[in-house]
Amino acid sequence: MEKKTDELIDFIKSRKSVRTFLFEKIDKIIIDNILECGRWAPSGLNNQPWKINVVNHPTIKHMIAENTKYSEIIEEAYYNLVIFLDKKKCYNRVKDIQSIGAFIENILLAAHAYNLGAVWIGEILNQKEKINEIFKLKEEDYELMCVVAIGKIDMQQKDNRTSERKRELVEKFTEWY
Ligand SMILES: Cc1cc2nc3c(=O)[nH]c(=O)nc-3n(C[C@H](O)[C@H](O)[C@H](O)COP(=O)(O)O)c2cc1C
Repeated sequence: MEKKTDELIDFIKSRKSVRTFLFEKIDKIIIDNILECGRWAPSGLNNQPWKINVVNHPTIKHMIAENTKYSEIIEEAYYNLVIFLDKKKCYNRVKDIQSIGAFIENILLAAHAYNLGAVWIGEILNQKEKINEIFKLKEEDYELMCVVAIGKIDMQQKDNRTSERKRELVEKFTEWY
């Protein structure tokens, strides 16, 4: 394999969830660039069924944090990307949600490219109606998909220094025909 290919593969494999952050400023342009990577995610019929609310304001952050057991992560993160399915753009529920997944993975990889920490918080879906209320978004128009918390990585935390992660081997979930 070429060196560049090796590096890209290593980059994909080395992305990991980061749940403890330093509360240090991240320039808005970086979030713009991260969202630009989301923008290029694939979607069924290219319908791009996403809507993002970028949250940096402490009061709004706190209001969101109150709706998940992962409140500390959300409070610590410099930015939280609140990711909705734009139901008005949808045509097939499974495919639309798959497209959101592709969008989110692009976001996580872009954050990783900037050496920022990020984590996909899905548990907050238990309170998805409350999140719609915070932003005054109608449930018939927008459905919460997750929050991605983003911040500078706190390297004092052991979890953030180790690269150890667990995955099944490919042959465990793959059959060749
Ligand atoms: C659909 C989905 C929901 C998730 N929800 C949460 C969550 O609520 N809280 C959390 O800390 N991590 C959450 N995660 C992150 C996973 O725990 C994490 O990706 C997994 O353990 C693998 O670890 P890694 O990302 O470090 O490779 C979620 C990930 C996905 C894809």
